Amino acid sequence: MITKIISQLLLAIFIFSSTYSQQLLVNSANDVRQKILINNGWRFYKYESLENADSLIYDVRPDVKNYDDNKPADAMPTEPQVVNVNKMVLKLWILPTGNEFIKDTAKHYKKPAGNPGGDFPFVLKDYDDSLWEKINLPHDWAIKGPFFEGKDAEVGGSMGRLPSHGVAWYRKKIFMPENDRGKKIFLEVDGAMSYAMVWVNGHLAGGWPYGYASWYLDITHYINYGDENIIAIRLDNPPNSSRWYPGGGIYRNVWLTKTNPVHINHCGTYITTRNVSKLSATVNLKVIIKNDSNNNATIATVTKIYALDDKGEKIRNAAASFKPVKLEITKGKTVEISDSVLIKKPKLWGPLPAQKPNLYVAVTELYVDGKLIDYYETKFGIRSIEFNPDKGIFINGKKVKINGVNLHHDLGALGTAFNKRAAERQLEILREMGCNAIRFAHNPPAPEFLELTDKMGFLVIDEIFDVWERKKTPLDFHLIFPEWHEQDLRAFIRRDRNHPSVIIWSVGNEVGEQYTGEQGASIAQRLLNIAKEEDSTRPITAAMNYAKPDMPFSKVWDIISLNYQGEGIRNAPAYSHLKGIKTEPLYLAFHKKFPDKVILSSENAAALSTRGTYLFPVYDGISAPVSDSTGGDSQKKYVSAYELYTADFGSSADKVFATLDQNPFVAGGFVWSGWDYLGEPTPYYESRSSYFGIIDLAGFKKDRFYLYQSYWKPDFPMAHILPHWNWPERIGKVTPVHVFTSGDEAELFLNGKSLGKKKKGQYEYRLRWDDIKYEPGELKVIAYKNGKVWAQDVVRTSLEPAQLNLEADRKIIKADGEDLSFIILKILDKNGNVVPTASNEIKFEIEGPGEIVATDNGNPTDMRPFPSNVRNAFNGYALAIVRSKYNEHGKIKITAKAEGLKEANIIIESKLMNQK
Ligand code: GAL
Repeated sequence: MITKIISQLLLAIFIFSSTYSQQLLVNSANDVRQKILINNGWRFYKYESLENADSLIYDVRPDVKNYDDNKPADAMPTEPQVVNVNKMVLKLWILPTGNEFIKDTAKHYKKPAGNPGGDFPFVLKDYDDSLWEKINLPHDWAIKGPFFEGKDAEVGGSMGRLPSHGVAWYRKKIFMPENDRGKKIFLEVDGAMSYAMVWVNGHLAGGWPYGYASWYLDITHYINYGDENIIAIRLDNPPNSSRWYPGGGIYRNVWLTKTNPVHINHCGTYITTRNVSKLSATVNLKVIIKNDSNNNATIATVTKIYALDDKGEKIRNAAASFKPVKLEITKGKTVEISDSVLIKKPKLWGPLPAQKPNLYVAVTELYVDGKLIDYYETKFGIRSIEFNPDKGIFINGKKVKINGVNLHHDLGALGTAFNKRAAERQLEILREMGCNAIRFAHNPPAPEFLELTDKMGFLVIDEIFDVWERKKTPLDFHLIFPEWHEQDLRAFIRRDRNHPSVIIWSVGNEVGEQYTGEQGASIAQRLLNIAKEEDSTRPITAAMNYAKPDMPFSKVWDIISLNYQGEGIRNAPAYSHLKGIKTEPLYLAFHKKFPDKVILSSENAAALSTRGTYLFPVYDGISAPVSDSTGGDSQKKYVSAYELYTADFGSSADKVFATLDQNPFVAGGFVWSGWDYLGEPTPYYESRSSYFGIIDLAGFKKDRFYLYQSYWKPDFPMAHILPHWNWPERIGKVTPVHVFTSGDEAELFLNGKSLGKKKKGQYEYRLRWDDIKYEPGELKVIAYKNGKVWAQDVVRTSLEPAQLNLEADRKIIKADGEDLSFIILKILDKNGNVVPTASNEIKFEIEGPGEIVATDNGNPTDMRPFPSNVRNAFNGYALAIVRSKYNEHGKIKITAKAEGLKEANIIIESKLMNQK
């Protein structure tokens, strides 16, 4: 007995200390609501193959036969396959989890009797999981690889050649103190890929199939107080379920939330603003309060609004207070209270750089008999937004041209396991380029990503589905669309609708229902209606790569979101021989047909390149599809970085800019894609990651970065020369030189000799000297703007590799076990010039309280697993990602070695959070 008490005590202390640092207490009144991060100390087990897995399946899936995974992205989606269910399936126990999000209560699911899986060993408390892998969340089980190589690999190029498919279990023991008895206990999962089913102490408590959804379960009934509890989560991530790398596992945060029986609901506040000006703004607040107690309750609410400072701290005096509300809530019922308040001289939220992303927080307190029983914070921003069909988007009265990019959810070598610093780095590098907007393609991001876009002042299209009823891959979301679309859509909007950065909801991307006339349009209309019910303040759209102005699908939306159709698809002469969708440039036709709607280019470009790789001859036009004679090398699987080459349905940046400038009513666009991502390695299926990014998978800038910067930041003096100037085999051969500059003309010099001055013509975005004969030495460009020197760039022929060099993006990181430093390795010659063709094998070593979690080089063909600390440089560069260790502080030394080269090291420091 005594030993039991001691061990429980020890366990309690352990749980307390392991969660303490992670604990995000919503306020000091932590006895009323605790939101505890429970990411640490999980056990993980994945079956070796699907055949070996248990039979606790959500549903029977169609057989996949002869599926061609190597299809163009714009291939027509097809109808679902009929499946006969002849096995015990668990979905009837899972569907009720979503009832809260089904509006028609008559359609709510009733949980059947019985407890499937209740006697399965993995769900039982006493099961010995000590041999299972010990992991912390967020966790992507597939990212460590190895990569599946070859044409007929088990996982092909489109899903990133990594083992994301399969069935796996996560288990965690949680001690629940006796004094939590009487509280409500919720398990909140921000993202689990996919088909999650949860057992708590052996009871099947619920789950959620869509891998990109954030969801929660009320697990109060299954908890043992004063005792240990076992949470077991089964995931089943289908093969052939995605057109990109989905990752696998519980890849976002998981929380345990404890509240009183009378409490503010999950995502239970909704803030909107109206009549916004510099002088004042009206803030509307809705609060949803649930009485899950056995008695009626008379409650009072008090909500105050505070401005947040640059550090995100509340500014002391409240900016406004809502009138206190007193009301009775019948037991078992939910009420919604709603009120508005005027804020004088609001600090407006607007996108950088011209505006500031000021934020507020609404603090809602709930009282019964004068006693605080709940406390809830809602961050929000005050902004006005106008969608003007002729002029574009105005925020707080100022026009904001959308200079956006699309992002997938993986974080390169870190996979899909969410890491806030890695996401922040993505945004920082995009910001440097002049990007001001993100379309999260084609699914909601981690909640923390939207905290970043709010804080950093990016605009967001928040998107939820890539498919509806018709499928793009055999086992994608279409399998669950009929039963889950409403729950997914409502839960998504309720989660994200307080974020000022979110300006548009997108309910679909290039869905097959574009092709099915009125039938498809009626599904579109249904989704639009649901979205409007959840948030009537933002426009709703779906991205269209096929629907034309006169098709029923196009009519439905508040905003016309075009993928590639604005520039035309397979339309220019260089593309005319290609098969597939062919479309004339359609901006004007849509504008004429829908004069009251804003037009946006939700995807444009789909240009391709391999960083630092240049192939000859260089195409003399401005945009061409990749082939072995235009920009491609199908042997080495490289695409030339002259930045003229595209996917079959794409257009180069130059062509996109020209089309946007010729159609100034278009509000702007989102490039496909901002960063390279895992999977979809068009045009070389045998690679592992994409070529679409302006920034490569490791975070290194391709030349295109500077082309966008020159266009998006016209007032920022810059010039950039390509290619590199190391061509020993090209002496005397024509080697075109292109320059990207925010200036309007430039003069190029080779070894001090002028090669002439060139000026940009109308709708020209690069300066090109296409007939330069290569000789080693120095290329220099001097750019001018309005006749004055504006910027310059120099490229030199380097000598042989001689030494290594390391730089860290951050030299001080937090000792929280999550923070990262991105260590950039360059191979230099003896004079300190980068050797732009160097590919030496590098070995990274580390000493001190940090670990190298992954390395990369941005080469889509590199099949060495990401966790390796050995990596070949690619075109002069490599990356090592260093993560701090939890609660261990001190200096971390990273060393890079390569045979025959002078090694390099760098010291960074990991600091405890309260350390100065
Ligand atoms: C689009 C699609 C994107 C991506 C892109 C590039 O058609 O919406 O998800 O596939 O093409 O291939």
